[in-house]
Amino acid sequence: MATQKALTLLDTTVGKKAALAVSGVILFGFVIGHMLGNLQVMLGAEAYNAYASGIKSKPLLLWGVRTVLVAALLVHTVIVLELYGKTIAARPVAYKVKKHIATSYAAMMMKYTGPVLLVYIIFHIAHFTYPGVSFGDYDPIAGDVYANFVNAFRIPWVVAVYVIANLMLGMHLYHGAFSMLQSVGLSHPRYNNRVKNIARGLAFLVTAGNVLLPLTVFLGLAK
Ligand code: HEM
Repeated sequence: MATQKALTLLDTTVGKKAALAVSGVILFGFVIGHMLGNLQVMLGAEAYNAYASGIKSKPLLLWGVRTVLVAALLVHTVIVLELYGKTIAARPVAYKVKKHIATSYAAMMMKYTGPVLLVYIIFHIAHFTYPGVSFGDYDPIAGDVYANFVNAFRIPWVVAVYVIANLMLGMHLYHGAFSMLQSVGLSHPRYNNRVKNIARGLAFLVTAGNVLLPLTVFLGLAK
């Protein structure tokens, strides 16, 4: 009975938007934690490697988090595709004149930033986690996450890829965080500005941290 109810809810646009919001909150939470954890690279090799091995020493927690993240990413992607498919089906002929009145640049860019982020996530995991690629420039050292980090961000094009992808992520979060709150019914004319500012602030902090990270080596903050 409960499953039946859940399925019925997920069949509705409201249910889908709620699932999109919940999966988005999970992913946003991870990105904030991941950014804070990575900033420890500026504390030096010992601290950063201890942080990384600390995570790996708790396999149950590690695999639990990985499972939740993969599930959230799948739900987020599948639902976006479904909702996007519905929008296209409802308007098979494109608008002749497009006016972006209520929507912002970040909102309009969601259909580009989303797919770019998917590609970035695959690239990023292949780069640092598995199998660990070095683009022929250095030898990745298993267990020495600090050395891999510093060697990777000595390569200018790798830095550029990370900076661009994380600016895209910032744009995605900027719009996503606000529309997420609206989808779950937390939108109110009285609080909209405050909510918008919090969402904007969080997206800005995550972006600033994530853009700083690949630049730390060039800036001499990690060596
Ligand atoms: C400039 C920004 C970022 C840097 C420097 C960075 C760095 C790293 C490093 C060094 C690892 C490997 C950790 C280890 O082996 O212990 C890692 C893993 C990972 N990163 Fe990032 N990251 C960044 C942004 C992101 C973003 C934006 C996402 C997601 C949208 C992300 C998702 C992941 C995931 C899923 C893993 C694998 C964790 C696991 O082992 O299960 N990262 N990152």
